[in-house]
Amino acid sequence: MDQTSPNQISPLDHNLALSQSRKYSFSVREITEGELEEVCRIAAQAFLDDAITNFFAGLEEFPNSLSTPGGLRIHHIYSFVVKSCFYIGGRVVVVTASDATTLAKNKSGEKIAGVACWAPPGKRMNVFNIPLTIRCGGLKVLKEVGMSGFKRIILEFMSLTEKTHSKTFRNSLYPGSEVRRKQEKLTPNDAWYLALVMTVKEFEGNGCLSLLMREAYGHAHSLGSTAPFMLESSTPRSRDRYGHLGFEAAPED
Ligand SMILES: CC(C)(COP(=O)(O)OP(=O)(O)OC[C@H]1O[C@@H](n2cnc3c(N)ncnc32)[C@H](O)[C@@H]1OP(=O)(O)O)[C@@H](O)C(=O)NCCC(=O)NCCS
Repeated sequence: MDQTSPNQISPLDHNLALSQSRKYSFSVREITEGELEEVCRIAAQAFLDDAITNFFAGLEEFPNSLSTPGGLRIHHIYSFVVKSCFYIGGRVVVVTASDATTLAKNKSGEKIAGVACWAPPGKRMNVFNIPLTIRCGGLKVLKEVGMSGFKRIILEFMSLTEKTHSKTFRNSLYPGSEVRRKQEKLTPNDAWYLALVMTVKEFEGNGCLSLLMREAYGHAHSLGSTAPFMLESSTPRSRDRYGHLGFEAAPED
């Protein structure tokens, strides 16, 4: 678990969210409900070869496409994550790429290059909220992964991460509360939580992750939020980049 405070990092000016790379122009925006299905598909695709995702899905081999049975299972899992974030009132943000020579473009002339799903402070998915769970495709996930998958995801993975979050936040005070002379205890639910982030393979290494993270810091700053940011890293590749973007690793036991 890592956390950072947006105040430690200079926020990205929203008007400057347009960034240039050698080949593409990137910009960052929140999605509309009509884009959810496309975003779910793009997000799932990025995790086909992710070891933790395969553990969630109970797969022994990485599926090579979303249209295989294993790929479909991963698609359902990530649809649930993206939709949960959207329907609890979170932020599903995309970085889009445009280029005159981009071959595959969607109708609006831009291509989704990366996705971030943020659960704001105080807003979290509760799987026991049955209507919401059904709306987000929770029953499809349960049907795909079965009770053993439910145990792996909720009882093994999530309970472990929750323990780490709680331990990390123990004795933490809300940033700025010392200044106000009222020491408010900080809990993991007070943080901006990154439920999912990914960059489409062809755009990796172009700063898409940085754009998504800095947009989030800028958004929090624009709201006057001093809440920390929290996420889990599943690979050394992402862990090193989060470190570069201001996150600190949770202390080991
Ligand atoms: C991990 C992932 C999101 C990285 O995305 P990306 O768009 O290629 O990352 P970026 O190019 O934006 O790099 C982010 C920053 O890290 C820096 N960076 C690059 N290599 C680095 C390294 N080895 N160590 C530290 N920082 C590094 C970059 O320079 C950039 O910073 P800058 O904007 O200040 O220059 C992407 O590889 C991915 O989607 N992987 C599959 C899904 C996944 O693992 N998601 C994360 C789950 S926890």
